[in-house]
This record gives sequence, C-alpha cells and structure tokens, in this order.
Amino acid sequence: MTSLWMQTAPPIPQDDEPPPAETQVVIVGAGMTGLSLAVMLGEAGVPATVLEGRQIGAVATGNTTGKLCLLQGRVFSEMREHARDDVLRAYADANRAGQEWLLAQVADEPGCAEPKVAITWADTEDGVATLAREAEAMAAAGVEVEQMASPDLAELTLPFTPTAALRLGGQAQLQPVRVLAVLARRARSAGVRIVEGCRVTAADVTGEGVVLETSRGQVRAQTVVLATGTPVLNRGLYFAKLLAERSFAAAYALGDSPPLPDGMFLSVDPVAHSLRTAEGTDGGRVLVVGGGNHRTGRDGDTAALVDEIDAWTKTHWPGARRVTWWAAQDYRAVTRVPYAGPIPRGGGRIHAATGYHKWGMTNAVAAALRIAWHLEIPGHLAGSEAAWARVLADHHAGVTDAGDAVVVNAEVAAHLTGGWARAEASGRHDDPPAEGAGRIVRSGVSPVAESTVDGATCRVSGVCTHLGGILTWNSAERSWDCPLHGSRFDARGQRLEGPALADLAPA
Ligand SMILES: Cc1cc2nc3c(=O)[nH]c(=O)nc-3n(C[C@H](O)[C@H](O)[C@H](O)COP(=O)(O)OP(=O)(O)OC[C@H]3O[C@@H](n4cnc5c(N)ncnc54)[C@H](O)[C@@H]3O)c2cc1C
Ligand code: FES
Repeated sequence: MTSLWMQTAPPIPQDDEPPPAETQVVIVGAGMTGLSLAVMLGEAGVPATVLEGRQIGAVATGNTTGKLCLLQGRVFSEMREHARDDVLRAYADANRAGQEWLLAQVADEPGCAEPKVAITWADTEDGVATLAREAEAMAAAGVEVEQMASPDLAELTLPFTPTAALRLGGQAQLQPVRVLAVLARRARSAGVRIVEGCRVTAADVTGEGVVLETSRGQVRAQTVVLATGTPVLNRGLYFAKLLAERSFAAAYALGDSPPLPDGMFLSVDPVAHSLRTAEGTDGGRVLVVGGGNHRTGRDGDTAALVDEIDAWTKTHWPGARRVTWWAAQDYRAVTRVPYAGPIPRGGGRIHAATGYHKWGMTNAVAAALRIAWHLEIPGHLAGSEAAWARVLADHHAGVTDAGDAVVVNAEVAAHLTGGWARAEASGRHDDPPAEGAGRIVRSGVSPVAESTVDGATCRVSGVCTHLGGILTWNSAERSWDCPLHGSRFDARGQRLEGPALADLAPA
C-alpha cells in the first residue's frame, strides 16, 4: 500500500541534523501546507524550522489525487449553504492564488504538473441537480464553468456518456511528491531546516514565546504553525469542528481497454469516483481511480470499498489491471470554509491551517499565504495581504454554525457511548484473529485491540489516546481507526495520524 506518487518520485533527501534548541518560527508538519509556508518564510529571510513527525508527505499530501483545480465537485454549492457570496468569491480567489503560486514554483521542474481540463459529471437525478446548483454557486463566486450539452458529453473520452457535466479549462494535475521535493529543496536552500521523525507532543505558551516538547527534545520558538491536517494539541478544539473523511485511490494499467480519458474527472453521484491519468511505475501512463469515501473509523468493511473501486473500473475498462492502491483522509470544516490563522488559547503565537475538504492542493497554499501575511514579521512579510484573505478571516470571526457543530458532536457522543457498550459486551477469545482481521475484546474492564497482520498477533489498548474513543478495525489498511475524530494507529499501536499524540499502549 504505497501511493503511486511515492513509487514514481525519487526519494526526497533527508537532513540528519537534530532540531535546533531555538528558532523564530516552527512549522509542525511537512505536507503541502507546511512546505509551502516554509518556502514563503525562508525566501522572506525568516528563520524557520519544520518539524515532521513521520516523513515529508507521509500523510495526506503523499496520498492525495493531486488535482490542482477550481472545479471541486459540490464544494461551492455546499459552502453557499453556510456562507455569503462574497465569501465564495474570496474562496475562489484564494484557490486561484494557491494555484498560481504553486504552478510558478514548479514551472521549470519536470514531471511536477501537467495542464488539464477538469470535468465534473453526473448520472443520477440527484447528481444532475447538484451540478446545476454547483454551476450557479460557482457563477456567484466569479468562476464561469461550461454546462456541457448532449453532443459534447459523448466526446468526453470516457467509455460511457454521462447525463450531465460541467467543464473548466486551464487547470492542472500534479505529481504531489515531486512537488513536495521541489518545495523542500527551495525551503532548504533558503535556510529552513526540515527535521523528520520528530513528533510534537505538547506546547507551553510563555511571555517570551512557545516551548514545544518533541520526541527529539525541546524547541523554543516565537511562533508555531500547526500544519498537521487536523490541528494537534487540542487548543481551539478544532477536532470538534472537523469531520475526518477517508477514501481510497488505485492506479490501473489499462491494457486493451478503452483508451485513457483526457482530463481530470469527478462525479457527484451518491457513489462518486474520481479519475485522472499519471505516469506509472514503468514509465507508461496509468489511470488513477478514486472512490470509497467514508467517515474515518465508521465504515465496518473498508476492504469492500476498495473492491467497489476495482469492480467499477473493470466494468468500464475491462482490461484494467491494478498496479497499486492507497488511502488518505482530509478534514471538512462544519462551515465548509477552510481555516488559517491564530487559534484560541494560543496567545497569538500558535497558528493553524485546516479544513481543506479534499481540495488542499490549492487551499493549503492559500492557507500558507494567509498565515505568512498574518505573521507580519517586521521587515519581512508585512503589508501584502490580499483582500480575499481578509474576507475569509472575517467570515471565521463572525461564524458560529452552532447547529451543525451540535449535530457533529451528537454523532461523536453516540459513537463514544456505542463503542464502549460494544467493548463492554465483547468477550474473550481463545484463538487469535484470522490473518488480516482485528477485533476489540475485553481484558478485565479494559478494551483490548487484537489483530493479526503478516502472521504476527498484536494486542494493544483499544482506547484512542486522544479522548477515549473505542477504535475500529480498518480491514483494508489493517489499522485501528477512531470513529470520533479520525486518529489512526497501526496494528502495533503506533500513531499514524489525527489529533491523538501518543501511541497505543501494549496490552
Ligand atoms: C483521498 C484524497 C484525495 C485528495 N485529492 C485531492 C485533489 O485531487 N486535489 C486537491 O486539491 N486536494 C486533494 N486532497 C486534499 C489534499 O491532499 C490535502 O488537503 C492536503 O494534502 C493537506 O495537506 P497538509 O499539509 O495540510 O496535510 P498533510 O499532508 O497531512 O501534512 C501534515 C503533516 O503533519 C505531520 N504531523 C501531524 N502531527 C504531527 C505532530 N504531532 N508532530 C509533527 N508532525 C506532525 C504529519 O505527519 C503530516 O506529514 C485529497 C485528499 C484525500 C484524502
Ligand atoms: S480521535 Fe478523538 S477520541 Fe479518538
């Protein structure tokens, strides 16, 4: 389970140096957000260090679909239910700014970005109605999309003819790991240190700055930016305002199938698929198919979601042969508008960026721009904030969306209670779980997560180290996933991602 992007990009060089004891800005996380900001700060002459718990690109950015695109499924119409049209326009401008900045960074870098047309299609009555709403919302946001008519739909280079589609030219698709390699190289040549294998576990805000506890010692900084997907450290309670949504992607060699589609495609039907092309491991072109969207830790049979992608692909491209598959998750803000800026209880010294709703290639860069402007480090970055950044900041300052937050947290409470009740009811088993299986059992009063992977049976605590959710087994990825706020752990209990900071204890 290694993404196509990891397999087809040269390894990104690593620094062996430990973290510095002191620096001006610490960026936590080396995905698209963290490394874009690292380039911006480094090139402005700001002393900055990136602390990455795993490796560059290990979480969402190395496992994305990599469309650098303003045509974003149903995002604009959903956002319009929560935000005014000037916020939608600011969101579109932010995405354009992110797209332009990133394309400029990789303009002379081979294999990073390819220009493509973007298409959103629908086949169901619901999907067709969604497309009409999306076109209207995008027009309100100042993005003119083409609503395709019948003869053109048959020319879409797909092996089927959709019922309706929207089209937007002038977009691009990325090889995201190659892009991260370019950003890391630029940041390092501008003096930024990137320390991998360094997990941040706590932060103490003092009068002089922030003291970070990390797995590789203490680091002091004037300012800390949490570029960690969902913001870690629990300040601002972002985990309670975000939904973790996970999905799968797979790459296929097409053999004698119908030819590769020309463009980036996404459906808005209830069972949605995403399509793009890419360079395969042997240098030929492959089809990348995304699907299996689910709330992290809440879908009992994740292996069935991967099978569904396979079955759907082989229905339309019968000769398709799967080369690799992978998965990732991203976070959706209750209000749908991404957040970037200072967080509550951070003394103005801790910033975070989150809520890209699976459109982080553009939104992560826009968030980095917002934070860079917000830092207003004298002599470096002051005075250049764009109007869209102010509108988005004002939106967050004025929004409560309390109703939606209540629904989200009622669901979380139900999962918390249900998980503990199921754990309580579970008994003991004499035999280890079958290969690839995992289950929660009881040891006294404690829920224990038992699994067998590659012949090794592991028993670890079945309780999430974030806020006590009972974990569920992800049969496709062989991981323990938390249904509350999306933390994930491997079978041996090592934290993979999410708001939890500690590993699971052995049982
Ligand atoms: C399946 C899927 C498909 C997608 N497709 C697209 C697409 O086509 N187009 C698009 O625009 N967007 C897409 N996205 C969204 C996009 O990939 C993400 O929004 C984006 O990659 C997020 O970048 P990030 O830097 O914020 O997070 P990440 O890339 O997840 O980086 C966060 C980093 O923080 C590190 N970290 C976390 N906690 C700590 C800690 N305590 N200490 C130190 N380091 C820590 C992690 O290890 C990680 O490397 C997709 C997302 C998914 C899930
Ligand atoms: S992620 Fe919050 S309790 Fe598990």
